[in-house]
Amino acid sequence: MALVTSTEMFKKAYEGGYAIGAFNVNNMEIIQGITEAAIEERAPLILQVSSGARKYAKHVYLMKLIEAALLDAQDSGVDLPICVHLDHGDTFELCKSCIDGGFTSVMIDGSHFSFEENIKLTKQVVEYAHDHGVVVEGELGRLAGIEDAVNVSAKDASYTDPDQVQEFVAKTGVDSLAIAIGTSHGAYKFKPGQKPQLRFDILEEVSRRLPGFPIVLHGASSVIPEFVKMINDNGGKMPDAIGIPEDMLREAARSAVCKINIDSDLRLAMTGSIRQYFNEHPDHFDPRQYLKPARENIKRLVKHKLVNVLGCNGKA
Ligand code: G3H
Ligand code: 13P
Ligand code: ZN
Repeated sequence: MALVTSTEMFKKAYEGGYAIGAFNVNNMEIIQGITEAAIEERAPLILQVSSGARKYAKHVYLMKLIEAALLDAQDSGVDLPICVHLDHGDTFELCKSCIDGGFTSVMIDGSHFSFEENIKLTKQVVEYAHDHGVVVEGELGRLAGIEDAVNVSAKDASYTDPDQVQEFVAKTGVDSLAIAIGTSHGAYKFKPGQKPQLRFDILEEVSRRLPGFPIVLHGASSVIPEFVKMINDNGGKMPDAIGIPEDMLREAARSAVCKINIDSDLRLAMTGSIRQYFNEHPDHFDPRQYLKPARENIKRLVKHKLVNVLGCNGKA
């Protein structure tokens, strides 16, 4: 199977009451760990690339690694649908470059612009993308947290206004919509002692206004305590790292949410494993020695997500 768009994945996920995992990728070990988990669990997959990842690894390296993942799945006898997606595209030019470079899906994040400007930019991207067989994710509402160099403080974050979603989708022609209901980027989503809460009422109202339309949840890492502990027990310093409780993510996956974005959990799994390895083997210096367990830890994490959180195992 060639790389696919997310259209068919989202249709089945919506009808089946599960969500597709969209995992951020930056290097070979991350791509391998995620893909091996998806192959073993027969789960449709979105591999997403941020502009920071593209700068770090270069478009062509990531693209070739993702194509290799597809071939690896075929060799394992699994016809794994993989969608390659631009995460948080911020300009038309960046989206165009990814579309021209073989991505099957792009996000144009105009959430920091006015409603009218967001519509204008998103529509421009949709027109180019659709002409090239590529799908587009837009965003309404603003998440707190860190994306690339942009740090959105909690006071600048805002929930999605359900009154705007129909007009936004109709005027832009987007294929999916990211909304802000209280999730946030990074490893510090709630303050210690604060009760984690998501605005499921907003999600419900959005899906009532957009029946059958796929919704996307960013900032959806659960910041798994096991990995935070692994980091802190091995010289790291991440006190008070708190994520979205898994039961809330499961509830979202059963609803109109068809795509759940996960990056921080991958970072924690990889870093925890490497820190532990260095602590236990201070004399080792072959990168393969510490990257192998890091890749295994990513695989274990992703399998857990696919089966216990997203419910998309066995759907490929
Ligand atoms: O939403 C942001 C993602 O976690 C990507 O992070 O821009 O540092 O690659 P990044
Ligand atoms: P996390 O930081 O919660 O993993 O969110 C990732 C994300 O939304 C990527 O777009
Ligand atoms: Zn995001």
